[in-house]
Amino acid sequence: MKVCIIGASGKLGSYMVQHALDRGYEVVGVCRKRSVSKLDKFKDRITIIPGATNDRQVIQQAVAGCDGVLSVLVPWGIQKYSSGTAQAVLDYAQPGARLVFSCGWHITRDGQDVYTNSFKALLKASNVIGKLLGAVEIEDQEEACRRIFNSQTKWTVVRGSDLEEGESQGLPVWSRHIGDPILKSNKTRRVDFALFMVAALADDSLIHEAPAIVGCTTPSALAHRKQSN
Ligand SMILES: NC(=O)c1ccc[n+]([C@@H]2O[C@H](COP(=O)([O-])OP(=O)(O)OC[C@H]3O[C@@H](n4cnc5c(N)ncnc54)[C@H](OP(=O)(O)O)[C@@H]3O)[C@@H](O)[C@H]2O)c1
Repeated sequence: MKVCIIGASGKLGSYMVQHALDRGYEVVGVCRKRSVSKLDKFKDRITIIPGATNDRQVIQQAVAGCDGVLSVLVPWGIQKYSSGTAQAVLDYAQPGARLVFSCGWHITRDGQDVYTNSFKALLKASNVIGKLLGAVEIEDQEEACRRIFNSQTKWTVVRGSDLEEGESQGLPVWSRHIGDPILKSNKTRRVDFALFMVAALADDSLIHEAPAIVGCTTPSALAHRKQSN
C-alpha cells in the first residue's frame, strides 16, 4: 500500500508516518518547506514533497499512485487552507483510493451531535478570537468537511477528542455522535488518534462514517465495555 500523509510534519502527522511505516506502507509526506527538517528522522524512509498543502499542483503530485491519503485539516492562518486542501485531495486522489481526514469534535455531519454548553462557548470564543487574530478559520474547516461529506469518494472523517501525549493505549473506540455516553471522557492519546487514522485505511466499515473517537482505556470507554459484556 502506498499512502500520502498531508501535514506529515505536525504531531499527529509524524505519528501517522510512524504507524504507516510500521505496517510496511510506502509513504509520501507533504509539509511546508520550512518544516521539512521536522521529518529528519524519517528522511531515508519516506518521500517528502515540500509545499503548501492547498497548492493543487503539490497535492496532485503527492497523491499520484497512492492507495490511501491521510490529511490533517488544521492549518494556522485564514487562507481557506482546510477547504483548499480537502478539495485538492478529493479532485486528485486516484479513483477508489481511501481518503481519511482528521478534525475535531466540533464538526458535525448530521446535526445530531449533542455538545455541552461549555464546549459550545469555547467553540464560539475560539471562532471569534481565531478570526480576530487571523489564527484559525473554523468555518473553513466546516466547509472542508461539507465538501468531503458530499463527495462520492471513499472518505472517512475522524473526529478527535481533546488530545494528550503519552504511550499508546491501543486503538480508540468510536461512536457516531458527540453526546453518546462512551465518549464522555473526551480524551485520546495523540499517538492513538494517529493509529485510528492509519487503521481506517484498511477498515471498509468506516467508509462514509465520521467516527468521534475516545481513548480505549478512558473511564467512559471502559464503562461502556462493562455494560456490553
Ligand atoms: N490539538 C487538539 O487538542 C485537537 C483536538 C481534537 C482534534 N484535533 C485534530 O488533530 C489534528 C492535528 O492536531 P495536532 O495537534 O497534531 O496539530 P499540529 O501538530 O499543530 O499539526 C498541524 C499541522 O498543520 C500544518 N499547518 C499548520 N499551519 C499551516 C499552514 N498555515 N499551512 C500549511 N500547513 C499548516 C502543520 O505544519 P507545520 O509542521 O509546517 O507547522 C502541521 O502539519 C487536526 O485535524 C485537529 O483538528 C486536535
